[in-house]
Amino acid sequence: MNNQFRGFLVTQSEDDRFIGRVVEQEFDRLPDNDVLIRVHYSSLNYKDALSAKGNRGVTRNFPHIPGIDAMGIAVKSKSDRIAKDTPVLVTGFDLGMNTWGGLSEYICVPVDWIVPLPEGLTLEEAAILGTAGLTAALSVDALQARIQPNAGDILVTGATGGVGSLSVAILAKLGYSVVAATGKSDRDEFLKTIGARETIDRQELDDTTKKALLKGRWAGAIDTVGGNILGTIARSLQYGGVVTACGLVAGDRLTTTVYPFILRGINLIGIDSVQCPLALRLSMWEKLASEWKPDDLRTMVTAIGLSQLPESIEKILQGQITGRILVDLAKH
Ligand SMILES: NC(=O)c1ccc[n+]([C@@H]2O[C@H](COP(=O)([O-])OP(=O)(O)OC[C@H]3O[C@@H](n4cnc5c(N)ncnc54)[C@H](OP(=O)(O)O)[C@@H]3O)[C@@H](O)[C@H]2O)c1
Repeated sequence: MNNQFRGFLVTQSEDDRFIGRVVEQEFDRLPDNDVLIRVHYSSLNYKDALSAKGNRGVTRNFPHIPGIDAMGIAVKSKSDRIAKDTPVLVTGFDLGMNTWGGLSEYICVPVDWIVPLPEGLTLEEAAILGTAGLTAALSVDALQARIQPNAGDILVTGATGGVGSLSVAILAKLGYSVVAATGKSDRDEFLKTIGARETIDRQELDDTTKKALLKGRWAGAIDTVGGNILGTIARSLQYGGVVTACGLVAGDRLTTTVYPFILRGINLIGIDSVQCPLALRLSMWEKLASEWKPDDLRTMVTAIGLSQLPESIEKILQGQITGRILVDLAKH
């Protein structure tokens, strides 16, 4: 083991700009937690881009290494639960927020954050899934509890994004009829390849009338964008429909009335993969490694090294990414 390791360090300049660079770090900059992990793969998520741009709701203290996902091998452990040399994955909790994260060759984390890599997944596949995969799995799990595959169309918003594309792929694998809503007119083929039956323009979901109820179009929905789109979906669910909410790229305000709830008995279910308890986390990763594993994860991924992060961060903030960005720590 060298004395130093490479990481994507974000610093705050005197004129309040946030600049990310690949730099060598000393090991004593890492927190003194239970398990030291050699990271093989990470991924780029919307939240990582917010952290890299100095968003105080995500990261308070700089310099900082973002990265809410890390997949690698435990190289030192103070815990009986995770032995040295165990392949592991870490997503969420405080990783990459105020604890230095996975865009780095090493992380040091509490043992309670760690999931042993389930049989059926490689470290690379686990990183392609990452937080987006866990969030998609939690969303599908909530929907599946109430909506059968023959109930009608299931809408997925932000469908070319990380959570969206993995939700499309898992739902299709489970036999649901998936309608993918996107802002990208040139991604029809991609969405159909991963399992969408039909694609629609997301503008169709941005209703600005004040109608309390719209035509009941969806048996269920996985919403990853929030804002007026989530409000429109709530008013467009069929009787007893379910919509899960995990994201806010289209806005953090939700405007609706109680009518869809009291006249159509709809269900709005919040999804959180960050603090998701370990038992549920383990069961979701078991499913992602087996019957829910998308058939061809490789069609959804662009692989980059740490030095390509600045360009990808700009793109994800502008909603220009399709699928998942895999960060391969062996790449320069
Ligand atoms: N609650 C949780 O635990 C949790 C976990 C993970 C992620 N999230 C949140 O879920 C959301 C999606 O995360 P992600 O990692 O999948 O992000 P992502 O890969 O950047 O995907 C977001 C997608 O949303 C669509 N979009 C972008 N800007 C939009 C806008 N202004 N209006 C409507 N749609 C827009 C785009 O898809 P199209 O071009 O196809 O429309 C984009 O690809 C984020 O808000 C993230 O913070 C929450």
